Amino acid sequence: MNVYEMCSRDGEPAIRLAQRTPSGPLRDREVRVRVAAVALNYRDVFLLKRAAERTAPVIPASDGAGQVVEVGGRVSRLRVGDRVMAGFFPTWLDGEMPDDARALGGAMDGMLSEQVVLDEQAWVKIPEHLSYAQAATLPCAGVAAWNSLFGAAKVGPGQTVLVQGTGGVSLFALQLARAAGAEVLATSSTRAKCERLRAMGARETFDYQSNPAWGRAALAATPRQRGVDVVVDIGGPGTFDQSLVALRPGGTMSSIGILTGVAGMINTFAISQKAIRIQGICVGSVRDLGALALAVVSAKLEPVIDRVFPFHEAAAAYEHLAQRRHFGKVVVSVSV
Ligand SMILES: NC(=O)c1ccc[n+]([C@@H]2O[C@H](COP(=O)([O-])OP(=O)(O)OC[C@H]3O[C@@H](n4cnc5c(N)ncnc54)[C@H](OP(=O)(O)O)[C@@H]3O)[C@@H](O)[C@H]2O)c1
Repeated sequence: MNVYEMCSRDGEPAIRLAQRTPSGPLRDREVRVRVAAVALNYRDVFLLKRAAERTAPVIPASDGAGQVVEVGGRVSRLRVGDRVMAGFFPTWLDGEMPDDARALGGAMDGMLSEQVVLDEQAWVKIPEHLSYAQAATLPCAGVAAWNSLFGAAKVGPGQTVLVQGTGGVSLFALQLARAAGAEVLATSSTRAKCERLRAMGARETFDYQSNPAWGRAALAATPRQRGVDVVVDIGGPGTFDQSLVALRPGGTMSSIGILTGVAGMINTFAISQKAIRIQGICVGSVRDLGALALAVVSAKLEPVIDRVFPFHEAAAAYEHLAQRRHFGKVVVSVSV
């Protein structure tokens, strides 16, 4: 079968097309899926940059959707022909994150492959109204947004959520928050993208490049200038303090991303002074993916896809995401 491998080529990180032999007879509870589409995340670009540090090639990408083509003898939940997507952590089924959680496309082979075999418990059925390309966007970005809003926080009508930028996580957070009846404020780097955010339901937008004090502007845009209830912080050290400024007393920061780095100075006094709750998010469980799928059905939510690349242009898809010109998700079509 055709796969991509993330590896080191002449000391440089690369993804390369390769052939592997499909795994042999299935174990009792295993399910073989023909992958139809894979969605890329910032994580995939981040891991690719570090591919030269790997001792062995790995199949990249965590997020894929496809059709069941074979089931093991004791599989009870799925049948041949079912349309499914895989959990980001295939063995984190429910509850708190287990110590040994391993993610697809990083610690173990991922989805950028014509076939994937996983335990039946790792797969979740795709909402009927979604294409494979749309469904492939849910497992990482969708679940991370879901847990940011409805994990530690309980976003609902009358609340205000702040999202940052126009990537996968942030657009899911915008759509899910709007579907839950909350107001959304959003940041982006260009006027054109701000307009698109408002067209999707953001009440106000702020250009974080021309206005580095966007946290104060967001605070001023909330009822009684009290601050937002939840920030979905995807920037990390470079956005953290502005996110604190934007939050109301007692608000929640869902700390998700590392777009500006992995460590830095933060204003710990602002955290205690406003009694802010910081909730770290690490995607979520297979059950969370199932809960998101139900919400996607009831809200008739359509994931935003920026562009779909053919399988042989996967490297170009990575480059497109790395350039940050996208709005929403970048997808690789694997098979039909
Ligand atoms: N912990 C988790 O569970 C989890 C899960 C998924 C993702 N993440 C992390 O969340 C972050 C976003 O991931 P993603 O896949 O959604 O990324 P993505 O699709 O690549 O989107 C990134 C977007 O963020 C915006 N951005 C870039 N730098 C920014 C900055 N300094 N301040 C504000 N916005 C900025 C840009 O949008 P504009 O062009 O509109 O400015 C950019 O297009 C990454 O750090 C990723 O590792 C974490």
